[in-house]
This record gives sequence, structure tokens and C-alpha cells, in this order.
Amino acid sequence: VDDLQGRIAVVTGAGSGIGRGVALALARSGADVVVADRDSGRVASVVEELTALGSDSVGVVTDVSDASSVERLADAAYARFGRVHVLVNNAGVASTGTTWASPLDEWARVVGVNMWGPVNGVRSFVPRMLSGGQPGHVVNTSSMAGLIAATLTGAYTTSKHAVVGLSKCLRAELQGLGAPIGVSVVCPGGVATAIMDDELVRTRETGRRLPADAQEMFDHLKQTVDGGISGEAAGEIVTDAIRANRFWVFPNSEDYLALLEPEHDEMRSCVSAQK
Ligand SMILES: NC(=O)c1ccc[n+]([C@@H]2O[C@H](COP(=O)([O-])OP(=O)(O)OC[C@H]3O[C@@H](n4cnc5c(N)ncnc54)[C@H](O)[C@@H]3O)[C@@H](O)[C@H]2O)c1
Repeated sequence: VDDLQGRIAVVTGAGSGIGRGVALALARSGADVVVADRDSGRVASVVEELTALGSDSVGVVTDVSDASSVERLADAAYARFGRVHVLVNNAGVASTGTTWASPLDEWARVVGVNMWGPVNGVRSFVPRMLSGGQPGHVVNTSSMAGLIAATLTGAYTTSKHAVVGLSKCLRAELQGLGAPIGVSVVCPGGVATAIMDDELVRTRETGRRLPADAQEMFDHLKQTVDGGISGEAAGEIVTDAIRANRFWVFPNSEDYLALLEPEHDEMRSCVSAQK
């Protein structure tokens, strides 16, 4: 979608951080934006910001981990605008802990938002976008954790690797159909957002204490996030990728790409050692 003027965009997790940044950048480019977030106060405040920019913006409180909630989001977007050109599956949550010790309900929560969120978005919107026959673009927010693995982030890393797989598959399928719908997968490095602070509030509310190793990783990630680029800067980078139809998007993460090479070397050396 090279010209966003008058296009309709739906952004999940648009109440804060990268999602809000994408919503603002899309509105500045002339798009009308449906703001979806589970937090109604954030939805209202971002809709106000977008409206002030001249965007015909509407908010829909949505839980992306719930397929019926995402279906209602699609119903609301199509009822209001009759078409959707850009879908940004961005809502996500953080989590730390060893793969084996993270509680099952924590695995379910993280995979529910980070993996099922984009799956639900694709399932509710892509068939309607295809039958609309108009140019379109789907953005899925993964992470550098979608490509490389650190320790103590098993649920998060697993969910974000799934988003890369989903995005590759979706792109191949849409290309196979010759559909005018592009796909991008966003793999940010540090972006200064509410993601770790929200997690702090949540763990306090649940009264759960992280084990020492998970707490240490949490503090390290919080530092990376707090020292990152702004959500608005990330939003501009994502919006530029939509316009240019670039698949891979690396806001503040280009330095991490070198970490992919040792993995490829290891794959090749394992193959040569294979009998
Ligand atoms: N901030 C970073 O450094 C960073 C790095 C890599 C990837 N990411 C990814 O970027 C995306 C955006 O995160 P952010 O950093 O802007 O965080 P953020 O917390 O500032 O924004 C995320 C928004 O998603 C909403 N949300 C959470 N669960 C939801 C649900 N079930 N349904 C609907 N909305 C929900 C939250 O209310 C929040 O407004 C996430 O997918 C995250 O994993 C962020």
C-alpha cells in the first residue's frame, strides 16, 4: 500500500508504545485508524490523539487472545468503514522465567496474546481483505526474540518465533494467490514502551514473585526497553515498511542481526558432520 491516504487501518495494542506509534504514523500519512486494545482508557486517549490529527478514528476494546473478540473487532471495523487495507497485529506481553519452571498458566497467557493474537487477526481479517479485492498489508509484530533465543524467556521467545513462522507462511500463501496484500514482520530491539512496567503492575497484582534468575532477566530487559528508541520512532519505521512493502522490519535491532550467523554456521557444520 504505497499511498496510505484514505486507507483504513486496524492496529491492535494501539493504546501504548509501538502500536500507538504505528497508529500515529498511519494517521499522519492520511489513514483512518481503528484503535484496538484491551485497555479502554488507552483506547480513548489514542482515539483522541488520532482525531486531533484529522484521522476518522474509532476505538474498539479488544482482547486479541480471544478469537470471538477479534471477530467482533473485524465486524466493527467493516461496519464502520466497509473495508480494511492495513492490519497491524501488534499487541503483546512480556514474560521471563526458565522454560521448565514458568507456570503453565503463564505459558498460556503469553502464547495466548503473542501467538494467538496474530493468528486470530489473520483469521478474522484476511478472508475479508481478500474478498474486498483492494490493495492491503498485514503487519505482525514479533521481536528479535522471534529470530534468536536468549535464556529465561522461553514462553516469549517461543511465541515470537511462531509469529515469524506465521508471517512467512502468510506471505507465501498470499503471493501464491497473486493477491495484492503484502506482509511485514517486525522484529524490534529495545523500544521505550510500557511493556515491562505493565508486567510489573501485573505481577504485583497477582502477588506472584519471580524466581531470582527470572527477576534478573526481567531487570536486564527492562533496561534494554527503557534505553530504546521511542514508540513513535518505531511506528514511523513500520509505516515506511508498509508503504515500501518490505517484509523484514528491524526497529533498533540491526546490530542483533550478526547473531544469526553463528546459528547458520552451526547448521552447516551439523549437516557436514551428518552421516
Ligand atoms: N518494547 C520493546 O522493546 C519490544 C521489543 C520487541 C518486541 N516488542 C513487541 O512489540 C509489541 C508492542 O509492545 P510495546 O513494547 O509497544 O508494549 P506496550 O505495553 O507499550 O503496548 C502493548 C499494548 O498491547 C495491549 N495489550 C496487551 N495484551 C492485550 C490483549 N490481550 N489484547 C489487546 N491488547 C493487549 C496493552 O494494553 C498495551 O497497550 C509487542 O508484541 C511486543 O512483544 C516490543
